[in-house]
Amino acid sequence: MDKITISKPDDFHVHFRQGELMKAVLPSTLKWFGRALAMPNLRPKPVLDTRDAKRYRGEITAAAKEAGHPDFEPLMAIQLTDKTKPRGIKHAQQAGVIAAKVYPIGVTTNSDNGVRSLKSCALTLQAMQDCGMVLSLHGEKPGVFCLDREREFLGVLDWLVESFPSLRIVLEHITTFQAVAKVINLPETVAATITVHHLFLTLDDIIGGGLSPHNFCKPVAKRESDREALRHAVLWGNPKFFLGTDSAPHPRDRKECASGCAGVFTAPVAMPLLAQFFEEHAGKNWRKGLEEFSSLHGAKFYGLPKNSGKLTLIRR
Ligand code: NCD
Ligand code: ZN
Repeated sequence: MDKITISKPDDFHVHFRQGELMKAVLPSTLKWFGRALAMPNLRPKPVLDTRDAKRYRGEITAAAKEAGHPDFEPLMAIQLTDKTKPRGIKHAQQAGVIAAKVYPIGVTTNSDNGVRSLKSCALTLQAMQDCGMVLSLHGEKPGVFCLDREREFLGVLDWLVESFPSLRIVLEHITTFQAVAKVINLPETVAATITVHHLFLTLDDIIGGGLSPHNFCKPVAKRESDREALRHAVLWGNPKFFLGTDSAPHPRDRKECASGCAGVFTAPVAMPLLAQFFEEHAGKNWRKGLEEFSSLHGAKFYGLPKNSGKLTLIRR
């Protein structure tokens, strides 16, 4: 098949940044996606409440319009901190914010104001459960050896599911065999996003030869066996797994330097690479698999209607 058409995809995890950088990177998402969940880890000021989310949505919508995509729909998330109040959650949800993102303190780019302990946020989590806001988790445990951070984080999911049985939870950008198994074994309220780069990269592509800073992101790509587990999860068609590219652009001099930023900028190539992946690995129904993973499963989990638009991909 040299040409396929699918329902317009959604990107359930992307970093648009702000200002000139946003203007430069946003068109790469607009080209392929109908909606995208804009991550709140902005600097100097993250998206923490309704006011921040409305302002940021306005910025994205204006830039999308300017780039010729007035129909693009930014989906908004706020960052949950130790200071987020239950009434702030309800207010944000009423204003259309669909998720609150938790960064454990210090685990990734712009996470120095992250959460110290999820257990101390119980009332806020309760409010999220009550109003139907999704909890979006950067699933790495701070202070642990870097390759073990995701695995060591997974235990907290048991507490979350037990304490908040109807809270919808998305474990973001999973990278390990253990995370795939955990998400499969937990109830329907728990899902995971998978990036395109984690379907292709292992740690070897970052430090196995010359250092490749443009392949460096958090959570870092791991072993071949982990990549295999992610590939199986995606190809299996289980609705608990859906696309979140975690496209995370940084200026070149912040990637190619000592102590470079984590983040892989994939938006320009994510959909073509994903189509290639499905064609090579999913058998003759690959178009359907691609569409479910990138356009249907995520929307269903978030309770959103399927995009009405279409995306046509042409091989060339
Ligand atoms: C992201 C960024 O650059 O904002 N970086 C990354 O390595 N993925 C933050 C994040 O999602 O962890
Ligand atoms: Zn991210």
